[in-house]
Amino acid sequence: MKIINSIFHMQALAVAPEREGRRIAFVPTMGYLHEGHASLLREGRRRGDVLVLSIFVNPIQFGKNEDLDSYPRDLERDFQLADACGADIVFIPTVADMYPSGFQTTVSVHDIALPLCGASRPGHFDGVATVVTKLFNIVRPDCALFGRKDYQQLAVIRQMTADLNLPVEIVGMPIIREGDGLAMSSRNAYLSSSERQSALCLFRALTRARELYSAGERSVAILARETRAIFEKEAAVVIDYVEFRDGVLLHELENVDAGTVLALAVKIGKTRLIDNTVFGEEL
Ligand code: PAF
Repeated sequence: MKIINSIFHMQALAVAPEREGRRIAFVPTMGYLHEGHASLLREGRRRGDVLVLSIFVNPIQFGKNEDLDSYPRDLERDFQLADACGADIVFIPTVADMYPSGFQTTVSVHDIALPLCGASRPGHFDGVATVVTKLFNIVRPDCALFGRKDYQQLAVIRQMTADLNLPVEIVGMPIIREGDGLAMSSRNAYLSSSERQSALCLFRALTRARELYSAGERSVAILARETRAIFEKEAAVVIDYVEFRDGVLLHELENVDAGTVLALAVKIGKTRLIDNTVFGEEL
């Protein structure tokens, strides 16, 4: 497994597979890898002749009062997991190389990036779209894999890739959960043991909404009230949003159907967690 820091070197390495018709599969991450990332890497290994992982804590997708400085990092552990999953190249650019002084171009996706996390974290998706575009131009992948836990991020990246005719197949991968239902996230590392316990209400809320849906309930007003009630029982939890949206364009809806996404964001202490489920699909 090669570890590459230089953008120039990474771009040079991507040329040979492209010329020889070998497929590059790409997993972009911010590191502190867990089983969710491992599932992306294993699928990438299956789909590509060359598997590239990037680790870059992207400063421009963090707001002023967010967790950029405290974002968890453990490169040694990341290398072990990447190696065990068959990565060929780990690309770790520096902030100074990605955003040299004078950098002034950003990629901005409009409507789909505005609600949900886009409303709570202004500018976040511009940061994501910009870094993913840059990474695609550096790594030149045939396919790129993203987890569905960041549901809106995946929708934004799909939209951007289509709008800009980027020659990359975007693959969305299922959410990986702990045994008790908590969706895996690098930010789970911030939770104290009592906060970790409170965080299970996300899974309870998704499960409750799915039960009501299976019993025939379709009204967003009723489902939202019942879902919110689960959080309101948890003193440590502050709701950011509970939203039922069209699964592709994220439009608001009055009634839920197969393909509707229930997207949740809460704050537990200082930690912001998100989760989601798509009705008619597995949890
Ligand atoms: O999901 C993430 O880890 C990041 O948002 C991404 C896609 C690597 C861009 O920085």
